[in-house]
Amino acid sequence: MGYNTILTQVDGKVATITLNRPQVLNALNDELMDELGAALLGFDADDNVGCIIITGSEKAFAAGADVAKMAKYSLQEVYRHDYISRNWEQIRKVRKPVIAAVAGYALGGGCELAMMCDMIMAADNAKFGQPEVKLGIIPGAGGTQRLPRAVGKAKAMDLALTGRMMDAQEAESAGLVARIFPAADLLKEVSAIAKNIADMPLLTAMMVKESINAAYETTLSEGIRFERRLFHACFGTNDQKEGMAAFVEKRPAKFTNS
Ligand code: CAA
Repeated sequence: MGYNTILTQVDGKVATITLNRPQVLNALNDELMDELGAALLGFDADDNVGCIIITGSEKAFAAGADVAKMAKYSLQEVYRHDYISRNWEQIRKVRKPVIAAVAGYALGGGCELAMMCDMIMAADNAKFGQPEVKLGIIPGAGGTQRLPRAVGKAKAMDLALTGRMMDAQEAESAGLVARIFPAADLLKEVSAIAKNIADMPLLTAMMVKESINAAYETTLSEGIRFERRLFHACFGTNDQKEGMAAFVEKRPAKFTNS
């Protein structure tokens, strides 16, 4: 499918979506968010894909929502057209694992997009921040909610109130980033991780994602109850039978995603 603002590639069971507006450091406009949503939902529906990567360039994952476009918006327009809610959160409908591979700037909406993914892998040159306060707005794509859940209140307040940037090392120590790689190796390393995940039994990987995400939406006892139901459901899958039989018989498992 032809897109203007993203590139897509499938290698084995791994789909990679590359944000591609280099002239504006991948600033996120409506067209890009529409295309990203369409690509994500397409790969989610594709039985041959087991894991999705979202990445940008070595200089920028995304430097935020498109400020040049936003500068002209009125309250009436953003409310009437449901700015952000209309198309930015398609990613929340994706049930397969999604990894953000972040090099360079992940600012404002770029940081928020990365946080909508299931995990963030960072290049050693990555810089995260929520600089919206300097533009007279607050983070509008989940930053005030997902950032404190990832890094705690103190650091979230510090970042969103000062608008400062946080480097990859700080982001990893704070819990925002899962792992850091040299910038030149980022995509190779993240692709290998994605392949590893895509080779897992798909239904089980989807249940892991659903259950961990439930931890951010509910109480501990409700979350545990939800986990237990999915855990029990695993015993109804062919891949549980195969995975355990293969372990007992000391042979590699042949999963069928069923
Ligand atoms: N929107 C639109 N254009 C952007 C952009 C953005 N968010 N970020 C960068 N660009 C454009 C610049 O205007 C510039 O275009 P020109 O070449 O036509 O001048 C081009 O990208 C290159 O950027 P710089 O020359 O500024 O590059 P730099 O290396 O000197 O600085 C930067 C890089 C520090 C990331 C700087 O570009 C910057 O501060 N960008 C804006 C970051 C920002 O404020 N993001 C938050 C946006 S608000 C938001 O995201 C709301 C929300 O929560 C949904």
